[in-house]
Amino acid sequence: MDSYIKCPVCNASHVTTQLSHDNGVFATTCGNCGHYFKYRADPPFTTSVTFKVNGTEVTVAADAGYGPEASLNDYLRQSGMSRGTKVFCRQGGCGVCVVVAKIPLGAGQTPLVANINSCLAPLFCCDGWEVTTSEGLGSVKTKLHPIQTAVSDNFGTQCGYCSPGHVMNMYGLMQKYPNMDKQFVEDNFEGNLCRCTGYRPILKAMKSLVPDTSSDIEDITAKLCKMTGRACSSKTGASCSGSCGDSRGAHRPIRLAFGATRWEKPMTMGDLQHVLAQVRGQKYRILGANTGTGYFKQESCDNFDVVIDCAGIPEMHVNTFDAQTNTYTMGGGRTLTDLMDIFRAEAAKSTDKGNFNELKKYLYRVASSPIRNRGTWAGNLMMKNKYPSFPSDVFNIMTVLGAKLTVGQTPNDVLTVDTFFKADMTGKVLSKATFQTFGANDVVVCFKVMPRSQNSLALVNAAFRMPIDAIQGFLITGQPIISIGGISETFHRATKTETYLYGKHLSAPSTIAGALTTLAGELFPTPGLVLPSPEYRKTVACALLYKFILKVLGSNAGYNFRSGVDVLHDIRPLSSGIQTYDNKQKADWPVHKAVKKLEGDVQVTGEAQFTDDLPPLPGQLCAAIITATVGNATIQSIDPQPAMTVPGVVRVLTALDIPGANDIRVPQLLSPTGNVELEELFCSGKVMYYGQPIGMVVAESQTLADKAARLVKVNYNSISAPVITVDDAIAAKTFFPQPTPPIVVGDPDQAISSAAHSISGVFRTPEQIHFHMETQATNVVPTEDGLQVVSTTQWTDNTQQAISQVTGIPKNRIDVSVKRMGGAYGGKITRNNFIAAACGLAAKLTNRPVRGRMDIQSNLEACGRRYQHRVDFRVGFDDTGLLKGIDLNIYENAGFLPNEQLGFVFSCYVDNSYFCANWRINMNSLRTNIAMTTAVRAPASTPAVMIIENVLEEVARVVNQDPWTVKQLNFYHTGQVTPIGMKLNHCNIDLVYQQLMTSAQVHTRQELFKFYNQDNRWKKRALAVVPVKFGMSSSFDMFTAVVSIYGHDGTIAVTHGGTECGQGINTKVAQVVAYELGVPVDMVSVKPTDSTVAANNATTGGSTTSEGCCRAAIECCKAVNLRITPIKTANPDLDWAKLMSKCVDVGVALTESYTNAGKHPTGGSDLFTYNVYGATCSEVELDVLTGEYQINRVDIVYDCGESLNPMVDIGQVEGAFVMGLGLNLTEAVKYDPSTGQMLCYDTWNYHPPTNKDIPVDFRVSLLKNAPNPVGVLGSKGSGEPPLNTAVSVFFALRKCIEEARKDAGQTGAFTFEPPATVESVQQLCATNTTQFHI
Ligand SMILES: Cc1cc2nc3c(=O)[nH]c(=O)nc-3n(C[C@H](O)[C@H](O)[C@H](O)COP(=O)(O)OP(=O)(O)OC[C@H]3O[C@@H](n4cnc5c(N)ncnc54)[C@H](O)[C@@H]3O)c2cc1C
Ligand code: FES
Ligand code: FES
Repeated sequence: MDSYIKCPVCNASHVTTQLSHDNGVFATTCGNCGHYFKYRADPPFTTSVTFKVNGTEVTVAADAGYGPEASLNDYLRQSGMSRGTKVFCRQGGCGVCVVVAKIPLGAGQTPLVANINSCLAPLFCCDGWEVTTSEGLGSVKTKLHPIQTAVSDNFGTQCGYCSPGHVMNMYGLMQKYPNMDKQFVEDNFEGNLCRCTGYRPILKAMKSLVPDTSSDIEDITAKLCKMTGRACSSKTGASCSGSCGDSRGAHRPIRLAFGATRWEKPMTMGDLQHVLAQVRGQKYRILGANTGTGYFKQESCDNFDVVIDCAGIPEMHVNTFDAQTNTYTMGGGRTLTDLMDIFRAEAAKSTDKGNFNELKKYLYRVASSPIRNRGTWAGNLMMKNKYPSFPSDVFNIMTVLGAKLTVGQTPNDVLTVDTFFKADMTGKVLSKATFQTFGANDVVVCFKVMPRSQNSLALVNAAFRMPIDAIQGFLITGQPIISIGGISETFHRATKTETYLYGKHLSAPSTIAGALTTLAGELFPTPGLVLPSPEYRKTVACALLYKFILKVLGSNAGYNFRSGVDVLHDIRPLSSGIQTYDNKQKADWPVHKAVKKLEGDVQVTGEAQFTDDLPPLPGQLCAAIITATVGNATIQSIDPQPAMTVPGVVRVLTALDIPGANDIRVPQLLSPTGNVELEELFCSGKVMYYGQPIGMVVAESQTLADKAARLVKVNYNSISAPVITVDDAIAAKTFFPQPTPPIVVGDPDQAISSAAHSISGVFRTPEQIHFHMETQATNVVPTEDGLQVVSTTQWTDNTQQAISQVTGIPKNRIDVSVKRMGGAYGGKITRNNFIAAACGLAAKLTNRPVRGRMDIQSNLEACGRRYQHRVDFRVGFDDTGLLKGIDLNIYENAGFLPNEQLGFVFSCYVDNSYFCANWRINMNSLRTNIAMTTAVRAPASTPAVMIIENVLEEVARVVNQDPWTVKQLNFYHTGQVTPIGMKLNHCNIDLVYQQLMTSAQVHTRQELFKFYNQDNRWKKRALAVVPVKFGMSSSFDMFTAVVSIYGHDGTIAVTHGGTECGQGINTKVAQVVAYELGVPVDMVSVKPTDSTVAANNATTGGSTTSEGCCRAAIECCKAVNLRITPIKTANPDLDWAKLMSKCVDVGVALTESYTNAGKHPTGGSDLFTYNVYGATCSEVELDVLTGEYQINRVDIVYDCGESLNPMVDIGQVEGAFVMGLGLNLTEAVKYDPSTGQMLCYDTWNYHPPTNKDIPVDFRVSLLKNAPNPVGVLGSKGSGEPPLNTAVSVFFALRKCIEEARKDAGQTGAFTFEPPATVESVQQLCATNTTQFHI
């Protein structure tokens, strides 16, 4: 049926809105001639969408309160259908939102069944879909799904925020690829980030569900059910007779109207053409899968007059192969995974000479599994067409495939990829691509250089295709194709180089030199604030051509140069890991036992409730923070009117609305100087940084609030250039008063000047963003006497205080609680105050419940980062490298306020593991126009260790010794005293180090690398060793625990003042309680942290909170045990439950509270209760040509005392180390120098490690037989110290660079500072095209 009517006067094709219809009669005014007419339509268009969520059918109409931009994720979360489906980036970049969907693809087509990102799936595309979320797989109340069990049993969860997304990704893969093997699994988890675990246990869990290898993985698509698109029960896909399932989904036209936006879902190509004809002149958007909005926000559906969903048109899903002509035809609605399936199938054929395999590998490096499953090739090409600087990989692929693109009905509408690049696509649809298999002599090679191993846009990408006759000296016999991305808006084909190469012999050195010169001559990369430098992009593009040539020449290239061929990420082996710890059965179990995490099961099913998962309350409002868009200025005026005109917006709050103090500073802040300035909740005048909160919008929904917050008009004056870096601040002399007096031990000046050698230098350590995937959030409910608050806080007392200050409500009327956080890493100690105090304020002023969740951008911009440091150092040492004197002048970038300066705390860690008799440690702190820097996991020690390790590495270079020898020479011994005056009573760094040196075979491997590096011009391998001493502090540890035992069943409830953010505090507390009371762990339940119970408690942080809370819980148990003992003695035969009933009967109180009031366990006064020791050896491999690297192996030996839970502690070690990898390697933070805006506020420009950035071989060993005499039951903490040793990868890379520079004839000194981005590494290798020999 033609769904479109014609105007009876002018005959123009017409679409209507559904609004004027009555019993199938529609009335409309012709858009062309203005004629008003009525007509009958049969059947009427569907004006709502209907789909299933975990088997439950739901219908959502256009007037249900969701706009055209609403996502499936919005619906799942706001309707309460799935809270396990999380949200963070809304960009397809993190994977916490992954669900599995069965999606109808137009009449006659097999539905798509896939793991997809619900945050990018438009809600109104979901008609006929069947959605499965983590709750649909299993439940702790019934039974877990095997995937959920595997993740939970393998300690694959820490905070658990990413866990449902991981589970659903695996479920989707299993549905589509029932025969997948371990490699396949590992290749398809790039879209799921985890900030806590370091991925190793998650990958282990997922891989445990599949065989090592699968012989028929290439054949998998043949085994999908033709009916459902899922794994076929017949295992052939041919004849299940429908037993696999029923529906092919809904196939019906849809027409929806949302205010200014109309939504059309035509079902035929004809209908689509009608719609396109009619929307001429209007702002319309063709909808593929909408993943493009993940990158181009301007493509959001609410920005258009008409949205046209093409998913129902069968022609858009054509996917055929004509064996006669070897031609594939793919509809524009086909996905990147469909393309991949073709490449995979062709690659498996004997006819493929590696070309399709090359394309398959390339496509694996495009986006992520859930994005490839939905994103269409046509949508991708259109992104390139619309935004030519987009470094599309699919464009390169289609170019070398020689694809022909159909964009209309006439022969002229079949375009080459080249012509398409510049084509005007107004009114056109990219409906089809055809391409053929390759010719006998064709060679195809593709490259993509990324800031991390996967799930990133290319810095530079390239695809080469040339017909080459190898017999005739690698003669290029036809038109070469060189498609290069990442250069500029206008450049995509290296046409001059192509012309130059045509007809030449690739084996001739002169050809290579000529081609490289020609290419260099046609590359003019444009600069950009977040882009790598033009120099880098140009050298890398040339290096990729050289790599292509080396690959073509194969063994005809010199042995040494062949190392340029392999792309490290393509040849990466499967990850593996070994965890070693004392696993002997002991009498004191369940302590010291690897007990499964208490929350593991609820985390993997998605039943674990986070702050923003609380169900909405009647009358609830949502809040969004308004932030500054300049970095150094004064607010002239704030105009809330544009926001207030949005229906549903209730209030805009600014500094003027605050009834209490406009101050969220917490008096007991960390700054030891007491040099704390007022920190406003909402800026009242002087803007100090881009992203600073200046107000808040309160509205009926989060979407409305977020949108309206961007509409508030703020005028600024006195705009000045921001001071951003530590160097800028030194130049501008924006010093705070010195945070701590210099620490001087001995006479460093004399020691340095009289030493055999002395050197000086400058070294800088980088910033780092917390990147907790649960953003800051708070729910506040007005109560009869004040406010009830649930917040993402590491410090309930602080949150309570901040809300009290701002609202003027006394603390005893503000109840703050937190069950868990989705990652924190220090970011929720004080930075949560913005959203908490603002929601408290709004709840007080409106007397309605208010919830607020910061979006990724405001969270990353406003909430501060790791301190950037610079050190100017001098060091004196003897011929062996023995330290004589060290002088460190340290500058810390504190951000716009001094409130969280590290000062003295930094000084406590800067000696790391090294004794020196003469020290000067001078701390300076500087004010800049960036958000206040704040604690990020191991805040003080990490930069301190980087700084001193750099000094030791420099010393080793001067004395020409291996750094690990010089380091060992300078180790502390028991009894020596640190610069802050702490005597080391139990120093076992030597023991740890020796164990590492042996188990990691450091010397042997180092020898092997010497040969490897000699033989390989373009790959280098090296290792580095870094020890750590880490003081665990007891000075902040006021923690309360309350233990309640219930009569009749004997179960136990515990609450404590620490907060669970993934570190396993609840599990450890439950273990010690079970041990002390002599009951199984599963009788213990740990409740949310609550400010009533944990009054005045300290923040969770510093790796010591678990111990503090365990200690308090133990004291509670001891006290209760004392009361129970007489009853037990009198009733020896009673089991535990009966004994507890008896206790209740005779009036024994079974509830006990205990607070550690900052007491040192041994009564001493040292800042640190004890030290943790550890050491790490990291091996890296570098691709000199591109700067990409891989961590081949990491060995960590860690002294965790007698660990309370070895697998929880190993999880902390691995997770901390991988977070440290991000700091040292990929997580570069960039600013706009003119506005001060931090530009890495999303998943596109900030690059935490993914699952293939972790060590290929990851070995963690907990030191055995090392009980800590002053620890809780012999244990030590683990959350932070391992992060400090991640700098070992940086030094290993430095060594690789040294080797590469030697080959390039450069032996002089060079400056190398973290993060070691691929750009900085490659540029330091001193590579240029004159070295590109064969
Ligand atoms: C997290 C993430 C990572 C990514 N990584 C990469 C990467 O590494 N490399 C890379 O190359 N790409 C990458 N992409 C881009 C991705 O490949 C595209 O988003 C996807 O292919 C677009 O397909 P779509 O169907 O979702 O298009 P949509 O988002 O629906 O549309 C994109 C544009 O194309 C138009 N359009 C869509 N279909 C048609 C059609 N048939 N005819 C005419 N116009 C049409 C739309 O109007 C819109 O302007 C990434 C995307 C995300 C979200
Ligand atoms: S929220 Fe969907 S990918 Fe991040
Ligand atoms: S467990 Fe993965 S983000 Fe916390």
